[in-house]
Amino acid sequence: MTNYFSNDFLWGASSSAFQIEGAWNEDGKGKTVADYNAFLKSDVQADTTVASDFYHHYKEDILLMKELGLKAYRFSISWARIIPDGDGEVNQQGIDFYNKVIDFLLENDITPLVTLYHFDLPFALVDKYNGWESRDCAYAFERYAKTCFEAFGDRVTYWQVHNEQNLMARVNIRMNMYDVPAEQAEKVRAQMDYHMFLAHALATNACRDILPDAQIGPAVSSTMTYPHSNRPEDVWAARMNDNFKTNYALEMYCFGEYPGYYQAYLKKCGIYPETKPEDEAILKASKPDYLAVNYYRTLVASYLPADEAHPVGTKVNDIDFDLYGYFKMEKNENLVVTDYGIQVDPTGLRLLLNDYYEKYRLPMIITENGLGTGDQLTEDGKIHDDYRIDYLKDHIAAGNDAIADGVELFGYSPWSFTDLLSSRQGFAKRYGLVYIDRDDFDLKELRRIRKDSFYWYQDVIRNNGLD
Ligand code: BG6
Repeated sequence: MTNYFSNDFLWGASSSAFQIEGAWNEDGKGKTVADYNAFLKSDVQADTTVASDFYHHYKEDILLMKELGLKAYRFSISWARIIPDGDGEVNQQGIDFYNKVIDFLLENDITPLVTLYHFDLPFALVDKYNGWESRDCAYAFERYAKTCFEAFGDRVTYWQVHNEQNLMARVNIRMNMYDVPAEQAEKVRAQMDYHMFLAHALATNACRDILPDAQIGPAVSSTMTYPHSNRPEDVWAARMNDNFKTNYALEMYCFGEYPGYYQAYLKKCGIYPETKPEDEAILKASKPDYLAVNYYRTLVASYLPADEAHPVGTKVNDIDFDLYGYFKMEKNENLVVTDYGIQVDPTGLRLLLNDYYEKYRLPMIITENGLGTGDQLTEDGKIHDDYRIDYLKDHIAAGNDAIADGVELFGYSPWSFTDLLSSRQGFAKRYGLVYIDRDDFDLKELRRIRKDSFYWYQDVIRNNGLD
């Protein structure tokens, strides 16, 4: 096969702070929403107390990255490690930790790709004003972002502001909507989402001022929806599913306003967020330099008419919600489904990259893509994860095809470097190229074991693509 990857293509691997670091309250770190939610479930699965213990193993892990041949490593900074209560004193020990990580990456010729916010809002801001519900949260985030640009910007060029805001906003516990009455939920959610967009724009604009040579953009949860049939209303429903779950956010990031269909929906449901006149200029000035694409799967939708019991805009479920008057989720009989219900679809990745490029004409990097499953350590002390190799290989081939189609794709950073705390299933569900020898309730020795996929990916990087 012809490889279209450029010589400086960023072959990476990814992670996020609360899913790997552990040390949840060490060296001054504050509690986060991710910690709070993990502790709520800690009778059934691992929590953030230790996770993969990157905090104490970062040197060992970075040396493994070097051995793998990584050109880039995508990780997130924990806001509550830098500013424990979200908007107060800066914690020098937090700055010191990330300085050590960044310096050691650079010493090993690995480019840091830094995400500022990956599901882990400082919990003190929930106590103070219910987090993103308050406009003050956007200003607190701007201050945190500036602190990071000033502390690390001399060595970090690639920044992602929010990880998967478009997915996070759909998940009540990630948005700390613990006590919001059901009838107010959508209004509160819409307000929080808007404040996150404002925060994203404030941080992007601050980055441009402080670090004119940096590259900054959002990391987006990206899916592609097929119509359930070729009935025109199903085709419309599929498009609206993408619009409501992803494209409205891309439009806001790239053009600084909600698209017409989304404004109409917010108004019709009486949940249009409060804004200020000065926001317009802030939002419009903050077009991203690139898009970070997190891609795992595709979806299928059919048209779901509203009825008397379900007026337009009635939602069912959270992450993959159905929306009366618009769309309903369906199964795709043509795709293989993983143990965890993910419809595997490499061609969807090629379609999606082409679609985004046509619309936004921005360079892209894949910052998440991977297979979550229950790997087994075999008697020979190894993990033979050919299923993961197949998954990654097919998606890398799709990325290669997209480049051949004309898409500017400058990197591929699969999820994840080591096994980590799955955002929903603890350590039962693993994504890593490196196995962490622990279970949910038995930490063992937290040994790092290279999986077969590690050696396979090492060859991919060495060959700058697939054979
Ligand atoms: C992405 C998140 O949505 O999916 C990651 O950015 C997450 O944090 C990944 O781990 C896989 O999801 P899960 O629920 O299987 O961990």
